[in-house]
Amino acid sequence: MIVQPEVDPMTMRRTIGRFATGVAVVTTEHDGVPHGMTVNSLTSVSLEPPLLLVCLTTGARTTDAVVGEGRFAVNVLSARQEEIAMRFARRGSDHFEGLSLEYGEHSVPVVPDALAHLECTVERHFEAGDHVVVFGHVRHTCDRPGAPLAFLGGRFGDLAERGSEPVHWFF
Ligand SMILES: Cc1cc2nc3c(=O)[nH]c(=O)nc-3n(C[C@H](O)[C@H](O)[C@H](O)COP(=O)(O)O)c2cc1C
Repeated sequence: MIVQPEVDPMTMRRTIGRFATGVAVVTTEHDGVPHGMTVNSLTSVSLEPPLLLVCLTTGARTTDAVVGEGRFAVNVLSARQEEIAMRFARRGSDHFEGLSLEYGEHSVPVVPDALAHLECTVERHFEAGDHVVVFGHVRHTCDRPGAPLAFLGGRFGDLAERGSEPVHWFF
């Protein structure tokens, strides 16, 4: 049997980084303390029931808080919220310092002025490699129009409108 050498983490990060994504912040509150982290591993899973997933670093404060609390919000960032993305990506800092806290319908903290909020309960979670895959059952949503923050090749950017109509079978 030929043993394939493992793809190293830097190669994995660089190569998967060619896949353009949006940027979101996962927020929750556990034992009275708000937590949040920037993510781009967000994926829609199911429409009926409405399910999504995010992959959160094992042992990160927000991961433990989301699993411990059993609920969280996904805040989809706008192109004007790069500073928010950087703030919630800093390890070991108080991510909410100086931010005015707002709460969603299900009493989870949410990021003001985000393009969308999806409030979820944790449907299930399991460890995969060095991350915890968290499935969220979406309980409440709100959204507004605007340009999303994009992430590609380790850089933030925005998506220029191309003027075409939304794909009709999708919306
Ligand atoms: C654009 C971007 C996307 C990220 N996506 C993820 C992700 O999907 N999952 C994850 O665990 N960390 C991701 N991170 C790293 C976390 O935001 C970072 O480790 C954060 O500080 C963890 O916060 P905590 O220690 O308070 O939990 C991302 C960072 C950036 C800048």
